[in-house]
Parts: sequence; C-alpha cells; structure tokens
Amino acid sequence: MTATTASYEPTVTGYLSWDHDRLDALLEEATTLVRHGDLVAALAKYTDFAHGLRRHIRLEEEVLFPAFEQATGMTQGPTTVMRMEHREILETLSDMQLSLAGKDAAGFEAARNDLLAVLQNHNIKEERILYPGTDRALRTDQRSDLVHKLEQG
Ligand SMILES: [Fe+2]
Ligand SMILES: [Fe+2]
Repeated sequence: MTATTASYEPTVTGYLSWDHDRLDALLEEATTLVRHGDLVAALAKYTDFAHGLRRHIRLEEEVLFPAFEQATGMTQGPTTVMRMEHREILETLSDMQLSLAGKDAAGFEAARNDLLAVLQNHNIKEERILYPGTDRALRTDQRSDLVHKLEQG
C-alpha cells in the first residue's frame, strides 16, 4: 500500500478515499461469496476487509485526527463524531465475524446492513469535510509527512 503500487493523489483525501474504495471492494467480494454459499472463502475475504478497516480506523484516530485537531484547533467537532461512529462500526464488525464463523448467512447480511448504515455516511463526511479540511490546513511539507505516515501505518 504505497504510492508506487496504488494510484491516488498524494494528499490525505487521495490516500484515505482510495483506502475507502479498496475496503468497499473487499466487503463486496465477501458479500458475493456469502450469497454464493461459499462461507469459508467469504470468511477469508471478510478477514482481509476487517483487518484493513481496523487499520484504517486506527490510523485515523492515532495519526489523522490529532493532526486535524492541531492544525484547525477544532478538538470538539468533527473528530468527536467520527470517533463515536468508529465505535459503532467496530461493533458491527464483531457481529459479522461471529455470523460467518457460525455459517449464518442471514446474520451476516443483517450485520452488514448495520455496518453500511453507519459506514456509508461516515465515509462521505470524511471525504467531503475532514480529509479536505486537513489537506487545506497543512503546509505542503506537513501534508507530505502525514500521507507518508498513513501509508506506512
Ligand atoms: Fe473513519
Ligand atoms: Fe475513513
């Protein structure tokens, strides 16, 4: 997951939006496998997705949000809401995992719907507000350093 193997603008918005799309595709593949009845392959694909989404959330909370808060002085605004939504997202991940491990396709679909109900709007808010706000608030060298930390994290 470096700039040499992926195609995105070298900005916070570019990298993290690309990662949203990458994770969306993994979830779609897992869902297709569930619907075809291949729950073993679905669990493997789901595991890649969950690992990637947990990493993405960790990088936002440990690297991006502190940078946004420091650059804008907004410590009680968008990042507070995003952190709360992350807790909801992580709960649905556990439900999806348990459903797949128990070969429960209907349970997986229900947990996936719960996930998407939070994640879709969450990602849109990040891509329209938080990521571009961070890009704008940083100098070019600061932005490059931040993108590098995200890529390596
Ligand atoms: Fe997020
Ligand atoms: Fe995100």
